[in-house]
Amino acid sequence: MPRTAKSLTQRETPKKLCSRQLSRFGTLQLKNKHTLYMKFFIDTANLNEIKAAQALGVLDGVTTNPSLMAKEGITGKNNILKHYVDICNIVTGDVSAEVNAVDYDGMIREGEELADLHDQIVVKLPMTKEGVMAAKYFSDKGVKTNVTLVFSAGQALLAAKAGATYVSPFIGRLDDVSTDGLALIEEIRLIYDNYGYETEILAASVRHTMHIVNCAKIGADVMTGPLSAILGLLKHPLTDIGLAQFIADFEKGNKAN
Ligand code: E4P
Repeated sequence: MPRTAKSLTQRETPKKLCSRQLSRFGTLQLKNKHTLYMKFFIDTANLNEIKAAQALGVLDGVTTNPSLMAKEGITGKNNILKHYVDICNIVTGDVSAEVNAVDYDGMIREGEELADLHDQIVVKLPMTKEGVMAAKYFSDKGVKTNVTLVFSAGQALLAAKAGATYVSPFIGRLDDVSTDGLALIEEIRLIYDNYGYETEILAASVRHTMHIVNCAKIGADVMTGPLSAILGLLKHPLTDIGLAQFIADFEKGNKAN
């Protein structure tokens, strides 16, 4: 019987998925390592925000795109390339740098230049025919890729077949048009698990903290979002109330000494 997509409440936890895969592949032959831990990427080209996320100690990488670079006023080829190197020097993980070309030869040229910049660079390619061909080219050469602007399970399947390192389904932009972005992550998880595709599901266009929590429940390998969404994970009023009480009780008890 083929597995069917589960509802939000029926979703299997990453731990359950992990043990199922352990029994299917054995510990050492575990093909799909997605369940071992979730990576946090920050989705920005702002160096201060990247430094703040890095300082928190939970950052695994960075994603950028041409709009995020433009937002920071990074223009002109040399400045753009230098900015990617600056980002790589702040973080230890993967840094997605997107090509601007839309033709195959241009993507290959630009992607090679980006990949040569730093070994942390992941070449980010759009989900087009040329982008899929370029993903295959880079994957055959052992260069990491991130296929972006993914809005359907079929597109994600193609990206995996091309050997992409990451596939980026845009959940926030789907939510924006009354379509369940998280349901797409579930569908891709199901498809990739059916065949053991190693392409990592990078939940992109994350807009808020609950997107992160729900992506973790479904078993997205990576999420990329703004600093505010990551910091939102810290917040709970009972933590603040409890800490204030601990401080007050400590001060009361130690005042006399
Ligand atoms: C993905 O890598 C994109 O940079 C990003 O997540 C897009 O997010 P947005 O929809 O908030 O622009």
